[in-house]
Amino acid sequence: MESMELRQQKLFKDIYKGKKVLITGDTGFKGSWLTIWLLEMGAKVYGYALPPKTDQDNFVTTELSSKIIHKDGDVRDFSRLSSFFSEVKPDIAFHLAAQPLVLESYADPVNTFSSNLMGTVHFFEAVRMSDSVKAAINITSDKCYQNNEWVWGYRESDPMGGKDPYSASKGASELITSSYLSSFFSKEKTPNIASVRAGNVIGGGDWANDRIVPDFFRSVQRNEILKIRYPNATRPWQHVLEPLSGYLLLGAKLLTEGKIYSGGWNFGPLGDAHHSVETLIKKTIHILGKGEYKPIENLEKLHEAHLLKLDISKAIHYLKWNPTLNFDETVRFTVDGYKSEWEATDVYRSRVDQVQSFVELSLRRNNYL
Ligand SMILES: NC(=O)c1ccc[n+]([C@@H]2O[C@H](COP(=O)([O-])OP(=O)(O)OC[C@H]3O[C@@H](n4cnc5c(N)ncnc54)[C@H](O)[C@@H]3O)[C@@H](O)[C@H]2O)c1
Repeated sequence: MESMELRQQKLFKDIYKGKKVLITGDTGFKGSWLTIWLLEMGAKVYGYALPPKTDQDNFVTTELSSKIIHKDGDVRDFSRLSSFFSEVKPDIAFHLAAQPLVLESYADPVNTFSSNLMGTVHFFEAVRMSDSVKAAINITSDKCYQNNEWVWGYRESDPMGGKDPYSASKGASELITSSYLSSFFSKEKTPNIASVRAGNVIGGGDWANDRIVPDFFRSVQRNEILKIRYPNATRPWQHVLEPLSGYLLLGAKLLTEGKIYSGGWNFGPLGDAHHSVETLIKKTIHILGKGEYKPIENLEKLHEAHLLKLDISKAIHYLKWNPTLNFDETVRFTVDGYKSEWEATDVYRSRVDQVQSFVELSLRRNNYL
């Protein structure tokens, strides 16, 4: 049996081994998983973000503060962020720090816009001033697109938009990325930059408010009935390792092959993998073997997009990236991820085991090869 490291090398050609990787938002759900995967590939990880919100956060339960160099900081504080870039001298940087919730963006639009817009500007400005960064990736969202509620998927070339403050902030973050790309990063020997758009990501370790899967597991913990806002809303559910595999593959290409990989990339599920909130919760209850839900009635309707699909032809064709898990496996990985927090004494090890299983499945299914 080959070691985990060897198997990983086949996926990303050993590119991250020994590399310095700076991640903004490492204390968050996706950032902490990205950190774990990079550590397992032998990268040196440096994180910059606000402190974790609760003791249940993945960053805390996996004890990442003892495994990486992390600096508490706000992305709106340019001088602190750029000094961290100068101290670390990263080879590659991933920007995940953002206010990521639609409902919270209605409650506090100013914080959402200031974090998500000026955070992006400061990130790319720090990249521009750095003499070490060779590649940088901005993580936005499928919600960056002008949503026409149509049945086919959005392509990278479709217009940006966003009605609610969160979606508008992600559309704007994309415009900032393309402005930096054409104004500062188009010439040879400048860093290669890209932006990435994924769908609704699920997996163990996410305890954010107003997200359906964390809400469900909280309801199970408290022995309550989950109240569902929009049972029929269809979402591109993905396990967190799916988009991360795309970001890592793209990062490897930007580091080694250059500007032809710059620009926007969708990393969603396959076209037939979109399911309603109710289907997701029913399957989760079935696999976990417990839990209850009911739809909320007489809800005051804030605008929330109801149909969102990403066209992933570009990633499939040019990166040879493909989603790995089917819907059933996505939910199983997610249930196992939460169960491991309740049962495992070493949550970090259980996360690494899931990365390993994901890598095995990806290789068996010939993704990225
Ligand atoms: N989770 C999803 O389903 C999903 C889907 C599409 C896009 N995204 C995007 O992925 C990224 C990560 O999302 P997540 O789900 O891990 O969210 P999260 O809330 O778990 O993590 C957000 C991270 O950003 C940091 N942060 C927030 N505001 C900050 C600020 N002003 N200064 C410094 N750090 C700040 C937090 O401390 C945390 O580390 C976000 O950009 C989000 O918009 C997430």
